[in-house]
Amino acid sequence: MIQMTVNASRPYDIFVGKGLLEKSGELCREVNGGQRALIVTDSNVALLYAARVSASLEAAGYKTDVFVFPAGERSKRLETVSAVFARLAQNGLTRRDMLVALGGGVAGDLTGFAAATWLRGIDFVQMPTTLLAQVDSSVGGKTGVDIAEGKNLVGAFWQPVRVIADTGTLDTLPQKVFADGMAEVIKTAAIKDSRLFGLLEDGDAMNPSKREEIIAGCIDIKRGVVEQDEREAGERKLLNFGHTIGHALEKYYDYTSLTHGFAVAVGMAAITRASERRGLTAAGTYARLTACLDRYRLPLTDPAPEGEYLSGVLLDKKRAGSKIDLVLLREIGDSYIYPIEVDSLSAFLGGGPGGEV
Ligand SMILES: NC(=O)c1ccc[n+]([C@@H]2O[C@H](COP(=O)([O-])OP(=O)(O)OC[C@H]3O[C@@H](n4cnc5c(N)ncnc54)[C@H](O)[C@@H]3O)[C@@H](O)[C@H]2O)c1
Ligand SMILES: [Zn+2]
Repeated sequence: MIQMTVNASRPYDIFVGKGLLEKSGELCREVNGGQRALIVTDSNVALLYAARVSASLEAAGYKTDVFVFPAGERSKRLETVSAVFARLAQNGLTRRDMLVALGGGVAGDLTGFAAATWLRGIDFVQMPTTLLAQVDSSVGGKTGVDIAEGKNLVGAFWQPVRVIADTGTLDTLPQKVFADGMAEVIKTAAIKDSRLFGLLEDGDAMNPSKREEIIAGCIDIKRGVVEQDEREAGERKLLNFGHTIGHALEKYYDYTSLTHGFAVAVGMAAITRASERRGLTAAGTYARLTACLDRYRLPLTDPAPEGEYLSGVLLDKKRAGSKIDLVLLREIGDSYIYPIEVDSLSAFLGGGPGGEV
């Protein structure tokens, strides 16, 4: 087991290791003195892991209840949070009690938002069960929901009191969901840590013996960035590597057929291809990056017409101001912000994400 502390405005510890759900009760007890806990989880994860968490919390003296929502992004909305509030009220959870987010980023985001707002804020513990949630969404304190007008438009910064990442839960992840998380793992290593990138290149990150080290390495990087920049002004922007194009693609497909990680993989490849061509990135970086993406069965290109998918972002950004902060790699393990005029993004990308360097 690996333990790390995040020195956010409210410091908290992260635990990474196999079998931690069995110990989740004790780990919660160390930081929360309440009597009741509501476990919020989705319909897939509930069947696999809710009983384990509930038993451990009960053994640590909590009265527990499990709130289950239908798995998927569509549940990340205010109606689900309202239903959580109703359950919290029925169970009489007070300010001393605790919410548990058990599942992927959807469970984490919506439960965190409920915790931030119930009685103006109560403790919550993240128990991430997807790779993406373990390395990314459970760390940093961003919580929220989607509304019809857009994703993640409503939310709050609210730090968990603990993060308990049981790496054993990744054994049951479908291959595509695992690959989706790998895009964020590769992104994290590419922007900050060439040694970690080397581990991904050499080996199989699926291999349980490497998993803990790789996940902890990613969390450590996100932690460092978040500590410096909790509210996303400067340094934290580096985590957006591949995301300008990624978000544009996701939006183009209306958040249906292309998942976040796959879209970000295409975005990282496209931006690095363009920046290397312009001498803004060391020669050979694109080849290493794309070989690694390919190794984990992530796409490098997408058939969507660039003009069409970029226009959505360009419109949004134009409203916000005339510049976009692109994140570029200097080389593998080193990144920087490169501001460009909104209007020159298409030209910067050249012939679009397809094709050769
Ligand atoms: N808060 C942040 O900083 C942040 C960062 C990145 C992404 N996000 C958000 O995270 C969400 C995506 O997260 P996600 O990819 O984890 O999606 P998700 O929560 O929908 O999980 C993906 C799928 O995996 C299933 N699943 C989860 N754990 C499992 C397990 N151990 N075994 C088998 N199946 C399992 C789920 O039921 C679901 O079907 C998006 O809403 C995104 O906006 C938030
Ligand atoms: Zn992302």
